[in-house]
Amino acid sequence: MKTQLFFVLILALTLASCAGGGNESSQSESAPAEKETAAAPVDNKAAGEKIFRTYCITCHGIDGKLGLNGAKDLTVSEISMEERINQVTNGKGLMTPFKDILTEEQIQQVAEYTVSLKTN
Ligand code: HEC
Repeated sequence: MKTQLFFVLILALTLASCAGGGNESSQSESAPAEKETAAAPVDNKAAGEKIFRTYCITCHGIDGKLGLNGAKDLTVSEISMEERINQVTNGKGLMTPFKDILTEEQIQQVAEYTVSLKTN
């Protein structure tokens, strides 16, 4: 029981240290730069999926396989996290650079999400 209590405490502290807060319910166009979503990996995945559905499916498709505008099939992509982050940040070929659209954290989240597409 003590361990459980300890965990809850840590969780509370982690959540409290996430300055932004409340971005779960009110994620909208307003000030994406102020978002802080560094909580659990699960949250990151949900956030990454949301970003992907908003910004990436136009070329990559919901499952990453669409390949419109010469986009690569993300389900077979072998590139590293670093390369993904770099490519989403700066764009490549016909792919839009997202550095002015998404925060670094959002880019990280969506890059992680693209890795999860690969295993599906
Ligand atoms: C305008 C169309 C377009 C949009 C929107 C787009 N991409 Fe791409 N994406 C591309 C193209 C084209 C390539 C291939 C670029 C090349 O290698 O020349 C690519 C390649 C990639 C790759 C590299 C795959 C590999 O194995 O080389 C990743 C990762 C990626 N996109 C992720 C994303 C993410 C994440 C988003 C949303 C934030 C996104 N893309 C939005 C067109 C797009």
